[in-house]
Amino acid sequence: MQEFDVVIIGAGAAGLMAAATAGYRGRSVAVLDMGKKPGRKILISGGGRCNFTNEYASPDNYLCQNPHFVKSCLSRYTQHDFIELVDRHGLAYHHKTLGQLFCDNSAQDIVDILLTECEWAGVQVMLRSEVLAVSKTDAGYQINTSAGSYQCQSLVVASGGLTMPKLGASPIGYKIAEQFGLKVLPTCAALVPFTLHDHDKQRFDGLSGVSVDCLVSSEDGTQFRENILFTHRGLSGPAILQISSFWQAGQAITINLLPELNLAEHIHTLREQQGQKSLKNTLSVLLPKRLIEIMIAQNDIPDKALNQLTHGEIDSLANYIHQWQIKPNGTEGYRTAEVTLGGVDTDELSSKTFEAKKAPGLFFIGEVIDVTGWLGGYNFQFAWSSGVACGGAA
Ligand code: FDA
Repeated sequence: MQEFDVVIIGAGAAGLMAAATAGYRGRSVAVLDMGKKPGRKILISGGGRCNFTNEYASPDNYLCQNPHFVKSCLSRYTQHDFIELVDRHGLAYHHKTLGQLFCDNSAQDIVDILLTECEWAGVQVMLRSEVLAVSKTDAGYQINTSAGSYQCQSLVVASGGLTMPKLGASPIGYKIAEQFGLKVLPTCAALVPFTLHDHDKQRFDGLSGVSVDCLVSSEDGTQFRENILFTHRGLSGPAILQISSFWQAGQAITINLLPELNLAEHIHTLREQQGQKSLKNTLSVLLPKRLIEIMIAQNDIPDKALNQLTHGEIDSLANYIHQWQIKPNGTEGYRTAEVTLGGVDTDELSSKTFEAKKAPGLFFIGEVIDVTGWLGGYNFQFAWSSGVACGGAA
């Protein structure tokens, strides 16, 4: 039996950050992970370049049953603090659209920074150690793994959500929460592509790889302005991943295919100047030609010259293009999702330390809890902020 002040389950973003923070306080810390490598999700994130934070991160970018919960940790360890950390390590990075920061070289650079911090803080990282069971002892907690047992005063659960099972996702965190009487909110895949019903799949056959800049809305009125991407399975792209977190089974999404333009006005103006021009050619300048061909073949828009269109037809065309409705069949699920919605109820935790109110010495951080960020570096920012908050107390 090995003894540590703090044992952390999960060598992911949140776990490594908490480990270094607790280690710097002089606590003896062990991080246990079943993987062969630490930070496996960091390594594949952002297309291998890790979108490690967002310059504009704020509590508004998070979904949580208690929207106030994230305020404390995000304000005490901000995106600027993390940027300062990577600057100190000399990380080369660049700004992309919408405040997203990515590594220039590789996501491995972020893992290396975290491991360097852990090494400087005296943290021990134990890999190939699957946590099988946890129990309460007089002195704290006992953890049984596939590679031995541990005893600690403070146990930090940073085991992540259920997305990407092939990268070590497991329900262990939810099980531990339930074992200690904490409520776990229902989970589902989020930041995930949509699958389509067979008739829509057939309709859009041939559009795979086509991407369109759109304004996408969910039935609750949430909107995202980014690209959508047609795939051979359905719909993906940043705007779709974003809206998937706000979508409920059976609902439609509304896609404004031309958010910058008043299409009715545009057609009326062109009709005066180039009445003979076909609607198909007019729209094909504005949107992918193949998409317009499909819409015409399905009789969703008329195959006419501009001067043959009635006012009513122009209005319905504009309505159709600005409010194109699709009812997804479902999502691709945990296999391809970036994050898990739901998890350990934040009402069970201190927003300052992430300690369970019902179980002193037991902490939950990162994706295992009911906090889900938008796409764009927000999820890692929450992992860093919750890790630092917990590491300062565990
Ligand atoms: P994380 O899942 O990272 O770590 C949990 C660790 O616990 C894992 O290493 C796992 O092996 C370990 N574990 C689980 N059960 C265990 C057990 N029983 N015993 C031992 N160990 C166990 N976010 C973002 O902000 N920017 C981005 O660019 C991306 N990109 C991205 C791409 C893809 C493809 C995915 C899937 C996800 C993203 N994300 C992202 C989301 C981001 O990766 C995610 O929110 C964080 O990794 C969550 O960090 P955690 O430390 O909470 O869990």
